[in-house]
Amino acid sequence: MFNDDTDFENRIVAPDYISGEDDLENPLRPKNFDDYIGQDKVKENLKIFIEAAKGRGESLDHVLLYGPPGLGKTTLAGIIAHQMDVNIRITSGPAIERPGDLAALLTNLNPGDILFIDEIHRLSRSVEEILYPAMEDFAIDIITGKGQMAASYHLPLPKFTLIGATTRAGQVSAPLRDRFGVVMRLELYTPEELCSIVQRSAGILGIDAQYEGAIEVAARSRGTPRIANRLLRRVRDFAQVMSQGTITYDIARLALDRLEIDELGLDKIDRLMLETMIKFYRGGPVGLETLAAAIGEEAITIEDVYEPYLLQIGFIARTPRGRVVTPAGYLHLGLTPPAAAPAQTTFFDDEENK
Ligand SMILES: Nc1ncnc2c1ncn2[C@@H]1O[C@H](COP(=O)(O)OP(=O)(O)OP(=O)(O)O)[C@@H](O)[C@H]1O
Ligand SMILES: [Mg+2]
Repeated sequence: MFNDDTDFENRIVAPDYISGEDDLENPLRPKNFDDYIGQDKVKENLKIFIEAAKGRGESLDHVLLYGPPGLGKTTLAGIIAHQMDVNIRITSGPAIERPGDLAALLTNLNPGDILFIDEIHRLSRSVEEILYPAMEDFAIDIITGKGQMAASYHLPLPKFTLIGATTRAGQVSAPLRDRFGVVMRLELYTPEELCSIVQRSAGILGIDAQYEGAIEVAARSRGTPRIANRLLRRVRDFAQVMSQGTITYDIARLALDRLEIDELGLDKIDRLMLETMIKFYRGGPVGLETLAAAIGEEAITIEDVYEPYLLQIGFIARTPRGRVVTPAGYLHLGLTPPAAAPAQTTFFDDEENK
């Protein structure tokens, strides 16, 4: 998902996929709606769509799930399959290289089955074009051979459900997006929700975690279950070696401090980003590309990974002219916000742009 050679890969708070960590067989992955904590709106609506489709004896309409990495899109697709009582085939945009690859996947589905395409914004143009009629009319047209030998076949497909997942809804082409009957956005989780997730995971892994310890892990997990589970495992190591295995408030704090994850879940790279914006750009506005170059990260990584959480906790704000550090962001770093708050500057900038 992200450039493999960024520093980001080694971040313990990176929400992206580490292979093996969350395969569908991962015991921490909720298998039904009751175990899937939070995202209440999405859950309630999905339950209705599922019940209605089942009542009519039809396949579920195509679903597009979007939101930052690690919030549970893949998990949700698995739950939908489970509730619909159908099989799920999992693939990803970059894995489907040629139209033939997609055709092979589609023609092997059984009626009602789910095809899950992760990172669906990365499908190639030619593959996307096969997908349109497949989604709409449940058929594909395949051309074989060349020149005089060329022949075209119209292949009907079973009625299937496509579930697409993406971290970048803006990059899904309009014709593709329009073919999804259900489009849902996953939100970052609250610390309370994450605390429930940490406690649930601790139970499954047989880790003894006190409430105060769990809340501490949750509070530093950037609103992201995948990070919460990862931090839980690391904190368990400290607990095992230093306090007979029990995750207490003190052990959680000590472990997370050693991992250089601060009280709000920010790590060195988050702080570097805020500091760079303050020191070199007077708190902004600074453009995404400029900022990316300044801290040596991909613009896409900043947008997908750092920003959502920094925006959520109100440390940066997005303006038409770029990102600004808010007074709260200054204060968190122990710095004094400038007298004229950046938000105000932006106001005037906006006026000028009119
Ligand atoms: N609502 C939830 N309740 C409990 N655990 C969750 C929830 N959502 C996600 N998790 C946990 O977080 C992990 C990451 O979830 P998942 O792989 O579904 O994220 P994702 O949105 O598909 O991420 P990506 O965009 O990186 O593919 C899962 O292994 C699961 O254990
Ligand atoms: Mg996923």
